[in-house]
Amino acid sequence: MAGRLEGKVALITGGASGIGAAHARIFAAEGAKVLIGDIQDKMGQDVADGIGITNSGGQAAYTNLDVTSEKSWADAVKKAVNMYGKLTTLINNAGIGIMGGVTTETQESWDRTMAVNQTGVWYGMKTAIPEILKAGGGAIVNISSLYGIIGSPDMFAYHASKGAVRLMSKAAALEYATQGIRINSVHPGIINTPILGTALTPEIVQGIIGKTPVGRLGRPEDIAYGSLYLCSDDASFVTGAELVIDGGWLAQ
Ligand SMILES: NC(=O)c1ccc[n+]([C@@H]2O[C@H](COP(=O)([O-])OP(=O)(O)OC[C@H]3O[C@@H](n4cnc5c(N)ncnc54)[C@H](O)[C@@H]3O)[C@@H](O)[C@H]2O)c1
Repeated sequence: MAGRLEGKVALITGGASGIGAAHARIFAAEGAKVLIGDIQDKMGQDVADGIGITNSGGQAAYTNLDVTSEKSWADAVKKAVNMYGKLTTLINNAGIGIMGGVTTETQESWDRTMAVNQTGVWYGMKTAIPEILKAGGGAIVNISSLYGIIGSPDMFAYHASKGAVRLMSKAAALEYATQGIRINSVHPGIINTPILGTALTPEIVQGIIGKTPVGRLGRPEDIAYGSLYLCSDDASFVTGAELVIDGGWLAQ
């Protein structure tokens, strides 16, 4: 099945860690030319270097990209086009999770969560879409969350930001449906990545495993394989959709 992304050029945000790094590895292995954008430079460079070593033919590079800055987005998109000749694919994956409720959320954590998780996704689509159009079309996946569909009592701003990503994806999908750009959202359940340490206590994580029908946390690759489908030509009739990858949680 290798080569499902042959001819594609993908910009993957938050690719230094967790779900984004899995996207970078799997997309490169499937033939995409990958540019990883993140603010963790050493880790991001290591992911790119690892792809060059471990995936025969896999091609990846790293660039500093702060998704909260439009200037940073412009630089990253330009770099992808300069390096690889075009841009066809965007994975808006960078995100943060901070605990907080309606009355306990701080202004600072609210603003930061919105800047990274919501505004960052807007800037990404806004900056990448003109280049994807020039390339003759492509696909965008916005990584939302199970928490962009259902609520919980202790991640108020996160829910607000991820719910917004879900509908931003549908609105953008309709806007570009006739112009060859497919835009979908992916909704991970609880995935075993570093973000868990900052967002959830170990007790909460254990409780979640107990309530997950398949009885385990998700792996970053579980999510990347979903995006692989959505960004491949196999999904040419799929746009404005939401792909839930959660071990069965939402089915309960
Ligand atoms: N892990 C989960 O259980 C889970 C569940 C649902 C959704 N998600 C979403 O998946 C995405 C990836 O999360 P993860 O679990 O891999 O977490 P992670 O912490 O391992 O990775 C997130 C990456 O985003 C980067 N990042 C943060 N702020 C940035 C910025 N301003 N500019 C550029 N990069 C920035 C970080 O440096 C990091 O490399 C996030 O959007 C997250 O909300 C994760």
